[in-house]
Amino acid sequence: MKALIIGNGGREHAIAWKLAQEPRITHIYVAPGNGGTASLERAENLALTDSDALLQFARNNDIGLTFVGSEAWLVDGIVDRFQAAGLNIFGPHQAAAMLEGSKRFAKAFMQKYGVKTAAYQSFDQAEQALAYLKTCPYPTVVKASGLAAGKGVIICQNQAEAEKAVRDIMLKNRFGAAGTEIVIEEFLEGFEVSILSLCDGKNIVPLKSAKDHKTIGEYNQGENTGGMGVVAPHPSFTPTQYQAFIDDIMLPTLRGIQAEQLQFAGIIFFGLMVNERGVFLLEYNMRLGDPETQAVLALMQSSLLDAVLACIDGKLADIELQWSPKHAVCLVAASGGYPNEYAVGLPISGVEKASCFAQVFIAGAKKVDNGFLSSGGRVLNVVALGDDLGKARTQAYSALEKIQFERMVYRKDIGEIPS
Ligand code: AMP
Ligand code: GLY
Repeated sequence: MKALIIGNGGREHAIAWKLAQEPRITHIYVAPGNGGTASLERAENLALTDSDALLQFARNNDIGLTFVGSEAWLVDGIVDRFQAAGLNIFGPHQAAAMLEGSKRFAKAFMQKYGVKTAAYQSFDQAEQALAYLKTCPYPTVVKASGLAAGKGVIICQNQAEAEKAVRDIMLKNRFGAAGTEIVIEEFLEGFEVSILSLCDGKNIVPLKSAKDHKTIGEYNQGENTGGMGVVAPHPSFTPTQYQAFIDDIMLPTLRGIQAEQLQFAGIIFFGLMVNERGVFLLEYNMRLGDPETQAVLALMQSSLLDAVLACIDGKLADIELQWSPKHAVCLVAASGGYPNEYAVGLPISGVEKASCFAQVFIAGAKKVDNGFLSSGGRVLNVVALGDDLGKARTQAYSALEKIQFERMVYRKDIGEIPS
């Protein structure tokens, strides 16, 4: 079977790496891919970036499975188009992708089906939002409803900050059309947990829990990024909290998906906040996380292909996932300046040496004759496994220290044992 993966990050390199281990996969195309997917055996990159061209390619090249990496494609309706053409594709159709594409829709869905989440109000008029800010408790969280590449969430300590956020988003169009509607919600204290899961419309099967590290600086300092490192399984998430996730979030979500006839075969990524009041859902993402995927797939012993095909056939209940008992640490090396302006075209050395100690996934770099040149903010990921978190962490940092590029930055606190 030939597979097509759509996307170009470390996540897509990890998906391609995992699928490339399947004897039944004869060839993998990645559109547009990166230097990592270009280096995999039986894989090649495709310079295609629009859905009509991808559909044509899938049809003409007998692609047996298309796996969509990133949300913009899903919200744009690529799954509906492939399915209408009779092609096998893994991901939610457009209506279900709105659980990520519209925070307003997602919050209304959570409220309707009793999914535990922060209290909120949504607005499509700035005056009404500004009036609400006079009475709401602080801190409060102002969110652009639409897709904003992970940047549309502003935590406001007081009314003045919140008013500025509302004006920036709704009147100055800081996030473009994503800010036509906003959600203002209760600020929740606690720690965050990422749970990626498989869904076939009748069942949801969670993968290993993961801890992302969102800020650019150590110990939650500095601006939020797409994610600067991951530990899996999450070291602080207890079995009781996991059960609360199942009861208060996962099962009500499944009931909602069925009641609203949003059934699909794809991923649900639950972004959770855990505190003494319980487990709350911050958001749904309808695709795998980056860099969570890199750590979680490194722990997955079962066939990803079997799991995905079972979802598409509505037979997820027949699959039992096997996991390594180890711990995974994923480090992200970024180009200095990220998440703001950063340089590209920086030559990278040491990837081969690092690969002797850990799995290296390329995120934002292209392949050139004698190695890789950076092409993005998050440049590469290093994933190591260990019998305990400390061992995985030591191994991951030893590997990363073999890699160099100018202005390389990475967090030094990923996988520190929680005190
Ligand atoms: P989201 O895109 O909704 O996951 O928000 C991005 C990040 O903002 C989350 O990962 C949290 O760190 C933070 N965040 C979002 N909503 C809240 C909330 N209600 N309380 C506290 N932090 C939040
Ligand atoms: N690492 C968070 C995300 O993929 O949204």
